[in-house]
Amino acid sequence: MDKMQETIELLESYNQNHIVKLLNKIDDVKKQELIEQISKIDFQQIMELYENTKKEIEIKENKIEGIPYLDKEKLTKQELEEFNSLGEKVIKNGEYAVVTMAGGQGTRLGHTGPKGTFKLDVYGKGKYLFEILIDNLKEASQKYGTTIPWYIMTSKENNKQTVEFLEKHNFFGYDKEKVTIFMQSEIPLVDQEGKLLIGKDLKIKEASDGNGGTYSSLRESGALADMKEKGIKWIFIGGVDNVLLKMADVTLLGIAISQGVQIASKSVVKANPHEKVGVFCKMNNHPKVIEYIELPEKMAEEVDNNGELKYGESHIMCNLYTIEAIEKISKEPLKYHSAFKKNSYVNEDGKEIIPTQPNSYKFESFIFDAFEFFDDIAILRGKREDDFAPVKNKEGVDSPRTAKELYEKYWERRG
Ligand code: UTP
Repeated sequence: MDKMQETIELLESYNQNHIVKLLNKIDDVKKQELIEQISKIDFQQIMELYENTKKEIEIKENKIEGIPYLDKEKLTKQELEEFNSLGEKVIKNGEYAVVTMAGGQGTRLGHTGPKGTFKLDVYGKGKYLFEILIDNLKEASQKYGTTIPWYIMTSKENNKQTVEFLEKHNFFGYDKEKVTIFMQSEIPLVDQEGKLLIGKDLKIKEASDGNGGTYSSLRESGALADMKEKGIKWIFIGGVDNVLLKMADVTLLGIAISQGVQIASKSVVKANPHEKVGVFCKMNNHPKVIEYIELPEKMAEEVDNNGELKYGESHIMCNLYTIEAIEKISKEPLKYHSAFKKNSYVNEDGKEIIPTQPNSYKFESFIFDAFEFFDDIAILRGKREDDFAPVKNKEGVDSPRTAKELYEKYWERRG
């Protein structure tokens, strides 16, 4: 049987007749490209993920407890100095690297282009999100006398634009030699009927497979091997869109070292019991982040003996790992979650449709789903006004307006 016939049968067996029609319409070069792409897609997996979107989220009987943490504000001067000096040593020895996850689509913000190229309207002139991250790295490099190696994860969709942008701005003064850009893997997008979306290039439209893809992509891209070669021992992984993110927090690093753990994370207290953030807990004795939609209302409101929320430590994408931890996680498959999002596509008449409402499922693995592979995590509670100002939504909470306000207030305080 020839490849074309084989492909058609595969597509028909998974109810993807719109792609068969497309195959019959396009020229030979495009046809070969599409057949090649189809041969790499795991249709069984995609259909299982699609079927899962119709099922209710199951909350199993689990033993759930609050997570122990240290509050940065409550550390004694001596504790702080001890932790900081442990952390500083690692950075000064060149054993520390930073990874920025910049492969997201930023659909809620609606900015055209990679999120890092979004300009936040601060101090009149404005600053790009990438520029804000670089400011933080430059400050750390100056303080610890070494330029921290920086790895940026992009997606196939935004890699070119990201590289061009950073080149154009000369990496905002950061040593280009210390920057490595790598791409994450992708997974097809599926509409509400389980049909794979077609993109403008007349290929199956795929999107990055979630920030949990960071671990395997670090390995597959060779970035992890590069870190090993450089003698890196600790790896920080953070998002692209928190304008108060501290990527070289020596206190967090020192706490992880002194507690002898492989993973650590900075948290901030939930703004209110119903804030839409994931919170840390211990589930069946392993660290875990429960997504807000999966946290029953009673638990969300539960307080401890001190009157504080029992599940109040928010996960703010400020995570630290030993290189051994990344080695381990990068070999383990993470489960996929589905997100219903707006994605443009080309319909059967070849017309591009730009939806105004969510129309398709994006399957994503989450960075924090790897925490449960470990027995312990060190949690450092930071301060919202110092550590967390995300740019997520176009307007309202966690928007450019709130981030600008928090960013400017922070820098006013620091003088
Ligand atoms: P979010 O989950 O908030 O996604 O990403 P997003 O792409 O920024 O925004 P929406 O949901 O489409 O509106 C949190 C962090 O994880 C990165 C993002 O770039 C951001 O830094 N991320 C997310 C990836 O690197 N890859 C992904 O596949 C998803």
